[in-house]
Amino acid sequence: MCLDVLQEFTAAKFSPEEFVKVLRKLQPRLYSIASSQKTVGESVHLTVAVVRYSVEHSTRHREGVCSSFLAERSSSGIPVFVHSAKHFRVPENTDAPVIMVGPGTGIAPFRAFLQERASTGSKGPNWLFFGEQKSASDFFYKEEFEAAQASGVLTKFTTAFSRDQQEKIYVQHRMLEHGAEIHDWLEKGAYFYVCGDAKNMAKDVDAALHTIVETHGSKTPEQAKEYIDAIKKEKRYRKDVY
Ligand SMILES: Cc1cc2nc3c(=O)[nH]c(=O)nc-3n(C[C@H](O)[C@H](O)[C@H](O)COP(=O)(O)OP(=O)(O)OC[C@H]3O[C@@H](n4cnc5c(N)ncnc54)[C@H](O)[C@@H]3O)c2cc1C
Ligand SMILES: NC(=O)c1ccc[n+]([C@@H]2O[C@H](COP(=O)([O-])OP(=O)(O)OC[C@H]3O[C@@H](n4cnc5c(N)ncnc54)[C@H](OP(=O)(O)O)[C@@H]3O)[C@@H](O)[C@H]2O)c1
Repeated sequence: MCLDVLQEFTAAKFSPEEFVKVLRKLQPRLYSIASSQKTVGESVHLTVAVVRYSVEHSTRHREGVCSSFLAERSSSGIPVFVHSAKHFRVPENTDAPVIMVGPGTGIAPFRAFLQERASTGSKGPNWLFFGEQKSASDFFYKEEFEAAQASGVLTKFTTAFSRDQQEKIYVQHRMLEHGAEIHDWLEKGAYFYVCGDAKNMAKDVDAALHTIVETHGSKTPEQAKEYIDAIKKEKRYRKDVY
């Protein structure tokens, strides 16, 4: 970004000291923990998407500072800190059903949730919605989730690969297809979790949830909102979006 500004405004004149003064300190980046300590012990797994992009009028290839560092240049001894997300944990009631919607890197905490539910012998059913661009290249943790399905920990597993066909298919489209069953799980006290993109995905998933409650709970939009507000109040609708 800084280089872009310098290239764009070549008339700007300043001393090296003045330039360094306006630079901001490198900020920390947050990553969801994608593992349960009960399963992996004294290590922490992350799911990192490397940010890569280019911008118009420039041939320079850009990479995200931290994600590309983690993927390509890091060795041992990276400084880290733990930022606790107390609102985003598996339910204390191990019998409660859990619905998890985690497209892209949003899958990270749900891998941890499944490990945690398996380690604690939780009896409640688990339903995971995962979405990415292409099944051939972006099906994160495919073997693990298939094994979790086979062992019975993952009760239902629904995928939405957006670029495997002409029209876009997203997690919320799959939710609508399974609306009756999602409503049934909610009626049985399910916890509903969403993780990943805040800008579009989380809003679209929220809208789909309202449609499901309206359609399958025979409710007006206002009544559906009240129903979902009540679930939020019971802390059964939780989001970790960024
Ligand atoms: C609570 C939370 C949890 C998170 N969990 C995860 C996780 O589990 N996994 C994960 O991978 N990430 C996660 N993130 C995101 C992560 O913290 C970083 O923001 C991400 O890795 C990018 O950091 P970076 O240093 O690589 O990119 P940066 O160097 O910070 O660059 C990112 C910036 O590049 C610019 N940019 C990006 N794409 C484009 C584009 N196409 N065109 C123009 N400009 C663009 C934007 O200004 C963007 O803000 C999480 C974030 C939060 C807040
Ligand atoms: N702050 C940062 O620098 C930073 C770093 C990493 C990620 N992010 C942001 O974090 C978010 C998550 O990124 P990610 O890499 O985990 O994956 P992502 O960009 O959220 O993509 C995951 C899947 O979600 C699909 N998708 C796109 N729009 C959607 C919508 N409205 N509803 C449901 N699904 C939708 C994508 O499809 P299509 O791509 O085919 O449309 C793709 O199949 C993104 O917004 C990304 O920009 C930010």
